[in-house]
Amino acid sequence: MALQLIPLHPLFVAEVKGLDLRTPPGPGLCEEIHRAMDRYAVLVFRDQRLDDDQQMAFGEALGPLEQDRATVDVHKTRLKHRQMNDISNLDVDGSLLAADDRRRMFNLGNQLWHSDSSFKATPAKYSMLHARVVPPEGGDTEFADMRAAWDALPEKTKRQVKDLVCHHSLLYSRAQLGFADYTEEEKKRFAPVRQRLVRWHPGSGRHSLYLSSHIGEIEGWPRPEAMMLIRNLTEFATQRQFVYAHKWRQWDLVMWDNRTTMHRARPFEDKTYPRDMRRVTLTDVAPTLEQRAA
Ligand code: OGA
Ligand code: MN
Repeated sequence: MALQLIPLHPLFVAEVKGLDLRTPPGPGLCEEIHRAMDRYAVLVFRDQRLDDDQQMAFGEALGPLEQDRATVDVHKTRLKHRQMNDISNLDVDGSLLAADDRRRMFNLGNQLWHSDSSFKATPAKYSMLHARVVPPEGGDTEFADMRAAWDALPEKTKRQVKDLVCHHSLLYSRAQLGFADYTEEEKKRFAPVRQRLVRWHPGSGRHSLYLSSHIGEIEGWPRPEAMMLIRNLTEFATQRQFVYAHKWRQWDLVMWDNRTTMHRARPFEDKTYPRDMRRVTLTDVAPTLEQRAA
């Protein structure tokens, strides 16, 4: 069976038609989904009425899952699967998070451009985010094509950045928002990891800028100079021609490749409306420095 793909953007992103993800895909279909991800980097599946078990089974069919949540107050959760991330504004009892809850403050970091789990030694491959409850307005998710951004960089910049190594940590992204309220255990757990700034993507043979707001340092560079370069590259890579904005409908499942895209949440009235999104995440094979150089 050939997947039915409808492109949603001139550079990347396609909608996949005609699949019911309540039944996990077999090996042949998984292979087609991987090929579509290699080409489009973001796939949209509409009207998928999945429960947690079905969403988990879909993820597991595509590859090994990330085992641990990386957040604050990890034990305070509504979700029964520890491999499932709660990307909502809801407390354990399903009520809206209090305005001053530190999880709400921490979660605001999702509105900074990032690549999921770039702060883990072995980062994320695909993320699969499923919309259970969407607010009446706002709360889009934006995606930026980091292969197209790399291709469009001036040759001189490519030469300047291609072998750089960055340090990524949740502490760095949250510091940009002035969040610094951690336990000693969290500070240890969120210790920085090293990642290449430019990656080679095996499924397409293309290069990709591996940017993320989790970056706080470039090895061998003075801090302000490093952060200025990262900011300039991020501004370049998130120009409108590289960005797709997803307007969520209930039961959408959106899957993205964190090796070749960045994303960010957009604001909504989170003290008034629930937004219940759940994410299952595939793990990459190894730290980027153990993968092929650019
Ligand atoms: C995520 C994420 C953005 C959003 O699930 O990793 O960053 O719009 N989500 O909720
Ligand atoms: Mn994310």
